[in-house]
Amino acid sequence: MADSKPKKTVFSGIQPTGDLHIGNLIGAISLWVKEQDKHDNIFCIVDLHALTYPEEIQAERLKSNSLDVAALYLACGIDPEKSLVFIQSQVRQHSELAWMLNCVTPMGWMNRMTQFKSKSEGRETVGVGLYAYPILQAADILLYHADLVPVGEDQRQHIEITQDIAERFEHLFGYHFTRPEILVRQVGARIMGLDDPEAKMSKSASKSGHAIRVLDPPATILKKLKSAKTDSRTAVDASDLSPGVRNLVTIYHAFAGGSWDSALKRFDGSGYGALKTGVAEAVIAGLEPVQRRFHEIRDDEAGLVRFLTRSAEAAAERAEATMRDVRKAVGVW
Ligand code: TYM
Repeated sequence: MADSKPKKTVFSGIQPTGDLHIGNLIGAISLWVKEQDKHDNIFCIVDLHALTYPEEIQAERLKSNSLDVAALYLACGIDPEKSLVFIQSQVRQHSELAWMLNCVTPMGWMNRMTQFKSKSEGRETVGVGLYAYPILQAADILLYHADLVPVGEDQRQHIEITQDIAERFEHLFGYHFTRPEILVRQVGARIMGLDDPEAKMSKSASKSGHAIRVLDPPATILKKLKSAKTDSRTAVDASDLSPGVRNLVTIYHAFAGGSWDSALKRFDGSGYGALKTGVAEAVIAGLEPVQRRFHEIRDDEAGLVRFLTRSAEAAAERAEATMRDVRKAVGVW
């Protein structure tokens, strides 16, 4: 089925929880934009996934965060002429397929999900939704017969289980879902926290020096980078990068473009002060147009909502075409 398509279908999404950071931008959105012309693209704001931490939900805030994320997709260069951008909860078929996939996914597979372990750690109550989270993600992807899923490295296990679920579904019901493949950046698929280069940069970390947010003002970006953790040396040694220094060069490389070698050469022998200023300049210059466009798009909320609703209708048509066959295969009405 996938082979007969003129273009590959790409599907990816981001949760509208907290502010997007440069890890999301580098690991995911930059890949979407780069490959956009080649493919049939679907980019989703996955608000149903955000419900997996129900204690943290404020209904109006969640709705508004979804619009922020949509505006950021567009501001980062996602072109509505080439890509479908919509909010997951507006296409009901995601929840419907997720239920069917819940029923076919063995608990043993789910027990191996490493993100569940880290995401549930230290929480008094953990909902079943957090446990089943990867299955909703599988439904997102399979519903559109996606061939490629451009994401950060942390999502690899979720894409692998999506392939397994598709296979088991086919084995049980004879319906064939396209098996999706992960697409990750060679450099920058895992951006680390500025305060702790051993930990992935994450939306949920509360320390202010941990992540650079896409909407941070220039002075904040500079301040955060200046206090980024490096090591006990004073200058960059390109032949032996510690995790903190490697992370800074990786961020520079993602924003400045060019090759990894040229990024390394640019800073080899530089003091850490100069490295941090150089990285800050590249990040500030890269984010400036994104921030400007974000405000233009977000300020016209009614226009943005109209656009997203139209896109959701188009997505729902595609999703419904899949679901008609899936319902038939499983025997529900
Ligand atoms: P989320 O919202 O946690 O992250 C969104 C995207 O950003 C990437 N990412 C990173 N990349 C590099 N370095 C980092 N520090 C970093 N942090 C996050 C993530 O890998 C992701 O690509 N489960 C997904 C959302 C989702 C989804 C989907 C993705 C739901 N359905 C279907 C693809 C296809 C998630 O929580 O992403």
